[in-house]
Amino acid sequence: MAVLVAYASKHGSTAEIAEAIAAELRERGLDADCLEAAEAGDVGAYDAVVLGSAVYMKRWQGDARHFLRRHSKELSGLPFWVFSSGPTGDPAEDDAAWEEPKRTIAKAEKLGARDHVVFGGRISPESGRMAKAMAENTPEEFRDRRDWAEIRSWAAGIAAELAG
Ligand SMILES: Cc1cc2nc3c(=O)[nH]c(=O)nc-3n(C[C@H](O)[C@H](O)[C@H](O)COP(=O)(O)O)c2cc1C
Repeated sequence: MAVLVAYASKHGSTAEIAEAIAAELRERGLDADCLEAAEAGDVGAYDAVVLGSAVYMKRWQGDARHFLRRHSKELSGLPFWVFSSGPTGDPAEDDAAWEEPKRTIAKAEKLGARDHVVFGGRISPESGRMAKAMAENTPEEFRDRRDWAEIRSWAAGIAAELAG
């Protein structure tokens, strides 16, 4: 069974999440391709799709939004999962309105997405002026909130659903 893991990432941390998902799917016997959303063309050649994007200013990256639009027909006929990646900082101060690109997720759900999760993101001072300011205001231990066990476990759930 062939799975496409497509992602949009500006500074690489979402790309690493997508790679971890693809690696877990492969370990569970699936044939997973991990590609940038802008490069992933032949969606119809896959048996299932996972689409993920970094969230900036409450929005998915354009490439992931375009992917959703461009491939809506194929996606509505395939098992399909969605993740966002974004929140950094103290989890006690998380704000769902900041993490959830509501309209985009509603679109994905309308196309039949089986699940949508928000994974913690990473903020690094090297990623531009805004990121530098945000990183400086973020305690070091909350600058990379990606939880690899959580990510792997979500991917394992996808593999189990596809096997069933
Ligand atoms: C200017 C800027 C705006 C951001 N806006 C959001 C946001 O609206 N919601 C959110 O959850 N995270 C936001 N973040 C955090 C990023 O989503 C996080 O750093 C993510 O891991 C970046 O992914 P990437 O490395 O794949 O680009 C923002 C970060 C920056 C630098």
